Amino acid sequence: MFPVHRPRRLRTTPMLRDMVRETALSPDDFIYPLFVQETSSKPEPIESMPGQFRHTIETLMEQAEKTVEAGVKAILLFGIPENKDEQGSQAFADDGIIQRAVRAVKKKTLPLLVVTDVCMCEYTSHGHCGVIRDRDVDNDLSLDLIARTALSQVRAGADIVAPSDMMDGRVGAIRDLLDSEGYSNVPILSYAAKYASSFYGPFREAAGSAPGFGDRKSYQMDPANIREALKEVQMDIDEGADMVMVKPALAYLDVIQAVKQFTDVPVAAYNVSGEYSMIEFAAKAGVLDRQKIILETLQSIKRAGADIILTYHALEAAAWIK
Ligand code: PBG
Repeated sequence: MFPVHRPRRLRTTPMLRDMVRETALSPDDFIYPLFVQETSSKPEPIESMPGQFRHTIETLMEQAEKTVEAGVKAILLFGIPENKDEQGSQAFADDGIIQRAVRAVKKKTLPLLVVTDVCMCEYTSHGHCGVIRDRDVDNDLSLDLIARTALSQVRAGADIVAPSDMMDGRVGAIRDLLDSEGYSNVPILSYAAKYASSFYGPFREAAGSAPGFGDRKSYQMDPANIREALKEVQMDIDEGADMVMVKPALAYLDVIQAVKQFTDVPVAAYNVSGEYSMIEFAAKAGVLDRQKIILETLQSIKRAGADIILTYHALEAAAWIK
């Protein structure tokens, strides 16, 4: 007890504080999400996410190079197609935007992992993450298209696939198809505990993927639940997920911690668009110190237990950490 113990003793100098710091961020922790589109010949700024763009394949490749220069090892790609239909057929088209983008980036042979988001919502005319039957997403009908989407991305050169649709059984369906086509070494990073969150708002504007009717509550998780997150994680690992993700991150730090304690596989956390935009708009308004808030935010996600952090701040944060 005080006065024998004085926790402030270990806070007296920067050297001491460095020595006893429990959490250290590294550029290795980050995955940088990027949008690529075929709707315009120029990169388009995303208004809801200041500083982020819907890239052309050309400017995406520049970003890939910048990612390597920043010391970040991975990018996560989202495609925005010119044409959307009921089935989301551009998601698994051999010449789809994402497939062409992956091929272009991989052709550069950079020391960079290309992760692809596997989902239908950017490609379907109704904006839902699978096939619609009776005004709801039909789980089992969607599995085949989701697995085909993953396969087409891997054929294009994706190093890791990240299913974000939240259909039951999709990790197993993807693993089976990849294995049967000779891709048993391609890892799956599953969005295992993905919540039906309002923090995806800016992303949906960016990707034009807001549902045309209803919402995603029949497939994404109820934000009130945490035990259910462990069930989702367990199922995905049993089906072959190599890494599991919690999403969003900031309002779900307790879920990250619980998942970390629950499993030995690497845990990722997605610092999503709404979390990014809250910081950007608050900083623009002059109410927060942008750099300090970004680093504190990322540190809190790591401290909660994330081994991997998906963040739109990846390149800047990596530069500051160095
Ligand atoms: C696709 C997907 C979404 C995000 C990642 N993959 C949107 C959604 O589920 O509506 C959100 C990412 C972000 O908000 O930064 N299903």
